Amino acid sequence: MHKRVRTAVFPVAGLGTRFLPATKAMPKEMLTVVDRPLIQYAVDEAREAGIEHFVFVTGRNKSVIEDHFDRQFELETTLELRGKTQALEELRKDLPSAGRTSFTRQQEPLGLGHAVWCARELVGDQPFALLLPDMIFKNKPGVLKQMMEAYEVLGGNVIAVEEVNPAEVSSYGIVGRGEGPDSGFAITTMVEKPKPADAPSNLMISGRYIIQPEIFSLLAEGVRGAGGEIQITDAMQTLLKSQKFSGVKYEGRVFDCGSKIGFLTANVAFALDRDDIRDGFLEELKKLKIDINH
Ligand code: UTP
Repeated sequence: MHKRVRTAVFPVAGLGTRFLPATKAMPKEMLTVVDRPLIQYAVDEAREAGIEHFVFVTGRNKSVIEDHFDRQFELETTLELRGKTQALEELRKDLPSAGRTSFTRQQEPLGLGHAVWCARELVGDQPFALLLPDMIFKNKPGVLKQMMEAYEVLGGNVIAVEEVNPAEVSSYGIVGRGEGPDSGFAITTMVEKPKPADAPSNLMISGRYIIQPEIFSLLAEGVRGAGGEIQITDAMQTLLKSQKFSGVKYEGRVFDCGSKIGFLTANVAFALDRDDIRDGFLEELKKLKIDINH
């Protein structure tokens, strides 16, 4: 039996410079895909996978995320008075139960690895899930749930991957693939933002991880990697010398909502999946007379 994963870490302290000026005063993780903020998709995915403790690593300007995961009595009373029971139920359903969220701050945006290290006291000595909220999926069951199934069998560390165009490997963390099926294969190496010629494969790390707590002492060393940032991929590559890492290559694709094109694509894809929006949205798109071949 492998130690159960009950805590998830959500790093939400990045500056979101690719989305300025939208992210000047508002966190990137509160940008909406249709009518839900990005962070809500990640939290929903974690809850579906059985996560019980939600740790947010926030920064300045991010207190609205804390408010989002709290009751809003004025709003709830108004909805109740207006008889909007369904909207009220939806709001309440989105909330993790009381006492299940924790918030800490990354005082300087020194990189994803540093943000994760900031969660060490809240996570403690147990394996944890790590979800980057700007990467979202439409998969059912969710990607983290699929990874939990692999973890229950394989233990160790688990990383979700998907194929990217070989020309794009230098934008992502890339893994080397060893033996095993898509539902759980051996990872042989990991490298952050490699040049295409140095990439061990075209399998990108797509923002979902299950990691053992030994990562924290490696992150504590504060080694700077690609872009001068403390990179989680570098610490994982060191941990690979002493621990097992498995890859899960899920069906479907990630929407990288940290980039404008990924974000816009996600809005279209998620809107077309919604029964209450699809037909009206398609009508409006037709009126734009888009010729997608040009
Ligand atoms: P990104 O690499 O997308 O960086 O972070 P960013 O700063 O948010 O955005 P750009 O590149 O400036 O547009 C991936 C995830 O890691 C978090 C971000 O909040 C995001 O969820 N992160 C990144 C931190 O929490 N701290 C950091 O120092 C860097």
